[in-house]
Amino acid sequence: MAALLLFCVGSLFYQLNGGPPHFLLDLRHYLGNSTYLDDHGPPPQKVLPFPSQVVYNRVGKCGSRTVVLLLRILSEKHGFNLVTSDIHNKTRLTKNEQMELIKNISTAEQPYLFTRHVHFLNFSRFGGDQPVYINIIRDPVNRFLSNYFFRRFGDWRGEQNHMIRTPSMRQEERYLDINVCILENYPECSNPRLFYIIPYFCGQHPRCREPGEWALERAKLNVNENFLLVGILEELEDVLLLLERFLPHYFKDVLSIYKNPEHRKLGNLTVTVKKTVPSPEAIQILYQRMRYEYEFYYYVKEQFHLLKRKFGLKSHIRKPRPRPEFFIPSPLETEEPIDDEEEDDEKWLEDIYKR
Ligand SMILES: *[C@@H]1O[C@H](CO)[C@@H](O)[C@H](O)[C@H]1NC(C)=O
Ligand SMILES: *[C@@H]1O[C@H](CO)[C@@H](O)[C@H](O)[C@H]1NC(C)=O
Ligand SMILES: *[C@@H]1O[C@H](CO)[C@@H](O)[C@H](O)[C@H]1NC(C)=O
Ligand SMILES: *[C@@H]1O[C@H](CO)[C@@H](O)[C@H](O)[C@H]1NC(C)=O
Ligand SMILES: *[C@@H]1O[C@H](CO)[C@@H](O)[C@H](O)[C@H]1NC(C)=O
Repeated sequence: MAALLLFCVGSLFYQLNGGPPHFLLDLRHYLGNSTYLDDHGPPPQKVLPFPSQVVYNRVGKCGSRTVVLLLRILSEKHGFNLVTSDIHNKTRLTKNEQMELIKNISTAEQPYLFTRHVHFLNFSRFGGDQPVYINIIRDPVNRFLSNYFFRRFGDWRGEQNHMIRTPSMRQEERYLDINVCILENYPECSNPRLFYIIPYFCGQHPRCREPGEWALERAKLNVNENFLLVGILEELEDVLLLLERFLPHYFKDVLSIYKNPEHRKLGNLTVTVKKTVPSPEAIQILYQRMRYEYEFYYYVKEQFHLLKRKFGLKSHIRKPRPRPEFFIPSPLETEEPIDDEEEDDEKWLEDIYKR
């Protein structure tokens, strides 16, 4: 219970500058007063308070393309203002850029949902109302591998696609064996490049990009204080279900849209090609290099499972494995539309999606 409250609660004790979004506090009351503390089926339907400012600072290669696709449909259906950014390759901003962006987002017509690949922005630092944050992460090694092969070989858009995406990449780099990259400490397979997920939650402070305890702890704190929900891609359907419960004005019906075969088949097209499995030794090394990322991932996963139980969803709580869950095939693996933190062009989706 305490952990759950922490998870949902805003910065009750840090109200110097605006404090937590009211929504997080209201939600805490809602949960705190509810009677379904154990796994006794779904909670009674109640009307939740309605946040009108939502930010999804989507982490690259964690299912965000699927979610953005769903958001396009949902924004038409429910009439909220979906604000997406044209900038797909800039997650860190100067102080001025932060100020500009926050000013810009804050003037968007409400209710809005803003989304961009960007490290956490502290609205209250610049005198704005802190919005409700949401996000999704996944197993760090799987995320890394997905990005590694996507950068080199693109996706279903065909043989030529990678040439368009990364035309200047030399052949030696494109065909670099992932085991060599890891075992011979290429920068791409070493820190700080492997410290990828935590900065999205830690924020814009330079120390947020230094692999270490400071960034990890700050990221966790921020999850507790500012994020309504951080889901786990491996359990995407439950993430969507919880979003539907928490933010019905944005996400009502999302699960049925997601499950609709007409929409699902699109995802089938985006299989990353030429994925190869690194050797167990290389995986083990990656896992060690990413220990902070894993600590964060397991933390988020535990909170997510607590929340699921709270809402009467089954959760398969397992002890963290000594190694990443890379070898467990997930049903998503072949259907996961893939995006890239360096270039996340979604135009093709819009084209497919015109109807
Ligand atoms: C239950 O809700 C009431 C108001 O509706 C609130 O004052 C009270 O603090 C809540 N209880 C808990 C445990 O959050
Ligand atoms: C981001 O991409 C644009 C073109 O889309 C390019 O002009 C710019 O230099 C890139 N910025 C970074 C930081 O890579
Ligand atoms: C601010 O938002 C408008 C549209 O709402 C956009 O055209 C403009 O580029 C944005 N500026 C910045 C700095 O993000
Ligand atoms: C956000 O900014 C406020 C005001 O400067 C500060 O008190 C708070 O610690 C910051 N939070 C994060 C997570 O950076
Ligand atoms: C995905 O595509 C393959 C071949 O293009 C097809 O055989 C398969 O049935 C598709 N799966 C789904 C779920 O649409």
